[in-house]
Amino acid sequence: MDNQSMIMESLTQRVSRPVLTDPGPDAEQLRMIFKAALRAPDHGRLRPWRFLTITGGARLKLGELFARSAVAEQPDLSPDAVERLKGLPLRAPVLIALICNLQEHPKVPELEQYLSAGAAAQNILHAAFAQGVGAMWRTGAVSYYSGTAKGLGLSDNERLLGFIYLGTPTGPTKKVDELNPADFVAPWKG
Ligand SMILES: Cc1cc2nc3c(=O)[nH]c(=O)nc-3n(C[C@H](O)[C@H](O)[C@H](O)COP(=O)(O)O)c2cc1C
Repeated sequence: MDNQSMIMESLTQRVSRPVLTDPGPDAEQLRMIFKAALRAPDHGRLRPWRFLTITGGARLKLGELFARSAVAEQPDLSPDAVERLKGLPLRAPVLIALICNLQEHPKVPELEQYLSAGAAAQNILHAAFAQGVGAMWRTGAVSYYSGTAKGLGLSDNERLLGFIYLGTPTGPTKKVDELNPADFVAPWKG
């Protein structure tokens, strides 16, 4: 397969991998993943994104943070639900917290900055897939609790866009939904 075909194959066949185990991406794979993230389209070169990597024991601390943040919002949460939240970050060896860093700009509204950060996240997913690293973008209620943002050290102008879980994919690869572009595209004739 030539380079162009390989790239198109990768772009059209990417899938999320929910079941991830050790090992996580190595240092060079992670470097390439972030290099790809930084090529997101970015109006005004604001770089309205930053990322945190969460590995090893820090995942346990993140689980504790999820649990604390959830209980602060729902004090009657069952002990089972609290335990489940503590285990969420252990679903992969490496997590990337996606942060949109919103900046005041006369020409670049917040929406465009969210879109740019989302494009960076998509580049992360594609760079992982292209290198054989399993990845899945997850949010869930824990991503929207104010305690989670505070515990991760976000400033008032920053928003947590969720976590990309990375690792070695296990289990069967799901079939890509074969959607027909014609169902989503139409010529506009004025
Ligand atoms: C912002 C965002 C948040 C998401 N959060 C979750 C989540 O919390 N749990 C989940 O099962 N899927 C979540 N997804 C969907 C998966 O990442 C994935 O896209 C979906 O399972 C479809 O799989 P595919 O990427 O292989 O098409 C989220 C997707 C986006 C874009």
